[in-house]
Amino acid sequence: MTGRFMANCRICDGILHEFIDLGQQPLSDAFPAPGATEGEFFFRLAAGLCQECTMVQLMEEVPREKMFHQDYPYHSSGSSVMREHFEETARRFLKDALPGPDPFLVELGCNDGVMLGAVSAAGVRHLGVEPSGGVAEVARGKGVRVRTAFFEEETALAIAAEDGRADVVYAANTLCHIPYLDSIFRGLDALLKPDGIFVFEDPYLGEIVERTSFDQIYDEHFYFFTARSVRAMAARFGFELVDVERLPVHGGEVRYTLARRGRRTPAPAVAALLADEERAGLAEPATLDRFAADVARVRTDLVELLRTLRAQGRRVVAYGATAKSATVANYCGIGPELVEFVCDTTPAKQGRLTPGSHIPVRPARAFGDPYPDFALLFAWNHAEEIMAKEREFGEAGGRWILYVPEVRTV
Ligand code: SAM
Ligand code: TMP
Ligand code: ZN
Repeated sequence: MTGRFMANCRICDGILHEFIDLGQQPLSDAFPAPGATEGEFFFRLAAGLCQECTMVQLMEEVPREKMFHQDYPYHSSGSSVMREHFEETARRFLKDALPGPDPFLVELGCNDGVMLGAVSAAGVRHLGVEPSGGVAEVARGKGVRVRTAFFEEETALAIAAEDGRADVVYAANTLCHIPYLDSIFRGLDALLKPDGIFVFEDPYLGEIVERTSFDQIYDEHFYFFTARSVRAMAARFGFELVDVERLPVHGGEVRYTLARRGRRTPAPAVAALLADEERAGLAEPATLDRFAADVARVRTDLVELLRTLRAQGRRVVAYGATAKSATVANYCGIGPELVEFVCDTTPAKQGRLTPGSHIPVRPARAFGDPYPDFALLFAWNHAEEIMAKEREFGEAGGRWILYVPEVRTV
């Protein structure tokens, strides 16, 4: 089995410059049970830059039902930093963005209701659109109204007919997961009020290139946005990029605000970010080719370090069976012979094996039972939270292995 290859841009049909090939990769969130690794789905994980509209995207597309289904294991509320981030987001929407007597907010990919729970608690009319049934059910338990469906044009038309038009449509770490953006934008056009806004936040290509965080590239992350590519995309569909804000979460993201063309004056932050991107050469093939060379160097350094530690008889375990770590483990060839196990707080991942690389996943308590010599921090985007929680590991002489932006131990 494999993904669907495209040599041309999903948005404008321009020719893609393929700049990185991370090899055969599994579904990043499909954790097989021990002994049940036959028949794992693999595809070629490669990314390209559109030479017309500058959108960076995967070359192969994985069918959406393989990734987002009843047992989708990622629960947004698993991180206290993310809970706080989304509670703050809800507070801001409630304060600034929901005018009139009966405002209506729609969230795409609401997951376990981490954001909409607060909107629901405030008594504001809302709807989550979430295709993954398990997490949708958790959201309902928090009093959130959820429609179990993929958002696309048809879904938008049905919502507009039943609930009326929305003041705000919000999507966090979801738009970049959706290859079929033409249908999404037709849907947004049907669903948003004339002055409504579409707000979305996703990992930022500028940050990925600057930090060599190549593990942001995996099956679910289909697009890697910049202000420039988002502006071009919005324009194709009758929208305009009117605000941008950098966010520290998930290794560096940007929150983009779109309005219908001509309805709002773009904030100065838009021009400022476009200028930063120009200086960084983010739309130039040479910049992305350089990024790919940096990635290959990280692989060499990381594998060398792990092999050396193993040869010295040191115990190495990994921390956080993140979706991102599927890319690292499979691209670098890191399996149970180099890393004993991965600990993770997600019950659905525990007792299973990491996708493709087949490292056993154990509960968090296995970490200190007893502490290993080294911990490979797969969940580096949660470093602050995890290192604070695991202070005793360092005090006991343990060292963390980091590989973003370069391989080092701390
Ligand atoms: N918004 C949450 C957050 O930021 O933590 C969840 C992000 S999770 C990485 C991506 C979510 O998008 C999943 O819950 C998935 O089921 C959902 N999703 C995927 N395709 C979608 C679509 N077409 N419409 C709505 N949600 C979608
Ligand atoms: P994410 O990088 O996609 O947010 O996934 C984080 C993963 O790391 C998720 O499987 C839960 C796990 N995790 C822990 O095991 N311990 C922690 O303290 C945190 C913050 C995450
Ligand atoms: Zn394009």
